[in-house]
Amino acid sequence: MGGRSSTGTGPQRGLAWLWCVWAVATVVGLLWFVWPLLVDEPPEQFLPGPTSHGHHQIEMACGACHSDAFGGGEVLQSACISCHGDELKAVRDSHPKAKFTNPRNADRIEQLDARYCVTCHVEHQPDKTEHMGVTMPEDFCYECHQDVAEVRPSHDGMGFDTCASSGCHNFHDNQALYEDFLLEHASEPMFKEVAAIVAKNAPQYHRQLPPVTVADAPAQIDSAPEVLNDWQHSGHAQAGVNCSSCHADPEAAADALSWVASPDHTVCASCHSEESRGFLAGKHGMRLAQGLPAMTVAEARIPMHADSAHLELSCNSCHSPHAFDVRRAAVDSCVGCHNSNHVQNFANSPHAGLTENPAQPGSEQVTCATCHMPRTTLPNGRVVVEHNQNANLRPNEKMLRGVCMNCHSLSFSIDALADPALIDSNFKGRPSVHIPSVDMAVERDKNRAVKPSLYN
Ligand code: HEC
Ligand code: HEC
Ligand code: HEC
Ligand code: HEC
Ligand code: HEC
Ligand code: HEC
Ligand code: HEC
Ligand code: HEC
Ligand code: HEC
Ligand code: HEC
Repeated sequence: MGGRSSTGTGPQRGLAWLWCVWAVATVVGLLWFVWPLLVDEPPEQFLPGPTSHGHHQIEMACGACHSDAFGGGEVLQSACISCHGDELKAVRDSHPKAKFTNPRNADRIEQLDARYCVTCHVEHQPDKTEHMGVTMPEDFCYECHQDVAEVRPSHDGMGFDTCASSGCHNFHDNQALYEDFLLEHASEPMFKEVAAIVAKNAPQYHRQLPPVTVADAPAQIDSAPEVLNDWQHSGHAQAGVNCSSCHADPEAAADALSWVASPDHTVCASCHSEESRGFLAGKHGMRLAQGLPAMTVAEARIPMHADSAHLELSCNSCHSPHAFDVRRAAVDSCVGCHNSNHVQNFANSPHAGLTENPAQPGSEQVTCATCHMPRTTLPNGRVVVEHNQNANLRPNEKMLRGVCMNCHSLSFSIDALADPALIDSNFKGRPSVHIPSVDMAVERDKNRAVKPSLYN
C-alpha cells in the first residue's frame, strides 16, 4: 500500500505532496507550540499573549504553569494548586473543587465547570481579563444562584453583576463576610479601644544567642565605621549574629577568601524562614522564587518613581543590611519606590498622623506595613511580620479581619474598603458609600425570631 502514492496518477501525486506538506506543517506547528515550553528561556515571540497582572513577572518561565508541555488541563490545574492551593484552603474557599465533585451539585457544572481554575482564569488573553485575573463576565454567579431571590427575598431585584463587585460577597474568600460573622460584629462602636492592637504589635523574637560586640570580619575587609557602628547597635549583634554569620561562605574555609561581599536572601532565609517564605510568595520575591533574576522597579506595571528604576528587590530593599530601622522599612522604603496617588496621599492621612504612645512602643501607629505586612500569629504562637504583601491585597476584604478590625468596627471597615476614592486618598475622611450587609444580617435575624418556620 505504501508505494501507491509514489506510483499514482497525476491528481494522486498532488494529493501525496499535499500530505507531506501537511505532515511537515503539523510537526513544525507542534514544535512551535511545545518547544518554548521545553526550553528554559524561550524567545519572547512564543508568548501567545501577555499574562495577567498577577503573573506578568513570571510569564517567560513557561514551565512554572505548563510544567509538562504534553499534559492537558490537569497539568495546568496542578500548577495552579501547587502555588495557590494552600492560600485558598487557609481562607476556607467558598467554592472548592470538592463542592462540585459532590453528586448533589453535579448539575451545576453543566453550565460552568467550576472544578477547573482555567474555566474562570485563562491566560494570555488581556482583552477578556478583568480585575484579579478573572476571565468571566461579571454576572456569572447567575449560572448557579438564579434562585437566590426566592430563598432570600432581601435580594429581590439585585443585579447579578453586583454580587461580587460591591463589597458583599467574594467567590473564594468570604471569611469576614458570612452571615454569622456579620451578626457577631453588628453592634461594635465605629472606633475600638486601641489597647487591642498593642498586644499584636509586640515583637517576639525566636532565637537568642549571647550578645557579641567584637566583629569577626577578616582584617583585609575594609569596612566603613558606620557599618561597625550600625551592626553593634542592631538586634543582630545583641542576638549574637556576627559578620561571619552573613558574610562567610559556609562551603569555604574560614579566611578572607571566603568573604561573600553581597549576601543574598538565601543567607537571611537560613535564620528567617517564615519571612523568606512570605517574601518569595508575593510580588516582591516571586521572580527569585522561580530562579529568575530579581524583579526590578523598571519592570513594574504599577506607578513607580523613575529615579528608582534601577533598584532590584531583595531583603535589603527595605532593611539596610547593618542597621534595622523599623520606620524606614515600614514607610520610607516603600515610598522610595512606589508612586501611586494612594501611596503619595498616605503622609497626609489621619493614619499617618497617629503618634506612638511612649509607654507602649509600637502602639497606635498605622504604617504602610500595618495594612500590607501585618503581624500574624503562627500555629506555634510566634508572631511574625507577613512578608507577602499580596496575601491580603485583593479582594481587599481580606484586610478586614487581620487589620482594620483591630481598630474599627466591621461595618465601618466594609464601607471604607468599598470606596475607591477613599482608598485613593489613603483613607482621609468618612466612607461615601454604605454596604448594607450587616443591616441585612440583623434584619434577617430579627425576622427569624418572629417567623421561625420560614427560616428553618
Ligand atoms: C501563570 C501561568 C502561565 C505561564 C507562566 C504561561 N502560561 Fe501559557 N497558558 C496558561 C493558561 C492558564 C492557559 C490557558 C489554558 C486553557 O485555556 O485551557 C495557557 C495557554 C497557552 C497556550 C495555548 C494557546 C492559548 O492562547 O490558549 C500556549 C501555546 C501557551 N500557553 C504557551 C505559553 C508559553 C510559550 C509560555 C512562556 C513564554 C507560557 N505559555 C507561560 C498559563 C500560563
Ligand atoms: C509558580 C507559582 C504560580 C503558579 C503556577 C500560578 N500562580 Fe497565580 N500567582 C502567583 C503569584 C506569586 C501571584 C502574585 C501574588 C498574588 O497575587 O498572590 C499570582 C497571582 C494570581 C492571581 C491574581 C491575584 C490578583 O490579586 O491579581 C490569580 C487569579 C491567580 N494567580 C490564579 C492562578 C491560576 C488559575 C493558576 C493556574 C493556571 C496560577 N495562578 C498559577 C503564583 C503562581
Ligand atoms: C467559577 C469561577 C472561578 C473558578 C473556577 C476559580 N476562580 Fe479564582 N477567582 C474567581 C473570581 C470571581 C475571583 C475574584 C475575587 C473573588 O470574587 O473572590 C477570583 C480570584 C482568585 C484569586 C485572587 C484572590 C484571592 O482570593 O486570593 C486567586 C489567587 C484565584 N482566584 C485562584 C484560583 C485557583 C487556584 C482556582 C482553581 C483551584 C480558581 N481560582 C478557580 C473565580 C473563579
Ligand atoms: C458553578 C456553580 C456556582 C457558581 C458559578 C457560583 N456559585 Fe456560589 N455556590 C455554589 C454552590 C454549589 C454553593 C453551596 C451552597 C448551595 O448549594 O447553594 C455556593 C455557595 C455560595 C455562598 C455561600 C458560601 C458559604 O460559605 O456558605 C456564597 C456567598 C456564594 N456561593 C456566592 C457566589 C458568588 C458571589 C458567585 C459569583 C462570583 C458564585 N457564588 C458563583 C455554586 C456556585
Ligand atoms: C544580617 C547579615 C549581615 C551581617 C551580620 C553583616 N553584614 Fe555586611 N552586608 C550584608 C549584606 C546583605 C550586604 C550587601 C548589601 C548590598 O549588596 O547592597 C553587606 C555589605 C557589607 C559590606 C559592603 C557594603 C557596605 O555597606 O559598605 C561590608 C564592607 C560589610 N557588609 C561588612 C560587614 C562587617 C564588618 C560586619 C560585621 C561587623 C557585617 N558586614 C555584618 C549583611 C550583613
Ligand atoms: C545567623 C542567623 C541570622 C542571619 C543569617 C540573619 N539574621 Fe536577622 N535576626 C537573627 C536573630 C537571632 C534576630 C533577633 C534579634 C533580636 O532579638 O533583636 C534577628 C533579627 C532581625 C531583624 C529584626 C531586627 C530588629 O532590630 O527589630 C531583621 C529586620 C532581620 N533580622 C533581618 C535580617 C536580614 C535582612 C538578613 C539577611 C541579610 C538576616 N536578618 C540574617 C538572626 C539572623
Ligand atoms: C525597591 C523597590 C520597592 C520597595 C522598597 C517596595 N516595593 Fe512594593 N513593589 C515593588 C515592585 C517592583 C512591585 C511589583 C510591581 C509589578 O509587578 O508590577 C511591588 C509590588 C507591591 C505590591 C503589590 C502590588 C500589586 O498590584 O500586586 C504591594 C502591595 C507593595 N509592593 C507594597 C509595598 C510596601 C508596603 C512596601 C514597604 C513596606 C514596599 N512595597 C516596598 C517595588 C518596591
Ligand atoms: C517590602 C519591604 C520588606 C522586604 C523586601 C523585607 N522586609 Fe522584613 N520587614 C519589613 C517591615 C516593614 C518589617 C516590620 C517592621 C515593624 O513594623 O516592626 C519587617 C520585619 C522583619 C523582621 C522582624 C519581624 C519578624 O517577622 O520577626 C525580620 C526578621 C525580617 N523583616 C526579615 C526579612 C527578610 C529575611 C527578608 C528577605 C527574605 C525581608 N525581611 C524582606 C519590610 C520588608
Ligand atoms: C489603612 C490601610 C492602608 C494603608 C495605611 C496603606 N494602604 Fe496601600 N492599599 C490599601 C488598600 C485597601 C488597597 C487597595 C487594594 C485593592 O482593592 O486593590 C491598597 C493598595 C495598595 C497598592 C496597590 C495599588 C497601587 O496603588 O499601586 C500599593 C502598591 C500600596 N497599597 C502601597 C502602599 C504604601 C506604600 C503605603 C504607605 C505609604 C500604603 N499602601 C498604605 C490599604 C492601605
Ligand atoms: C492601629 C489601629 C488602626 C488600624 C489597623 C486601622 N485604622 Fe483606620 N484609623 C485609626 C484611628 C485611631 C483613626 C482616627 C484618626 C483620627 O481621627 O485622627 C483612623 C481613621 C480612619 C479613617 C478616617 C476616618 C475619619 O473620620 O476621617 C478611615 C476611613 C479608616 N481609618 C479606615 C481604615 C481601614 C479601611 C483600615 C483597614 C484597612 C484601617 N482604618 C486600619 C486606627 C486604625
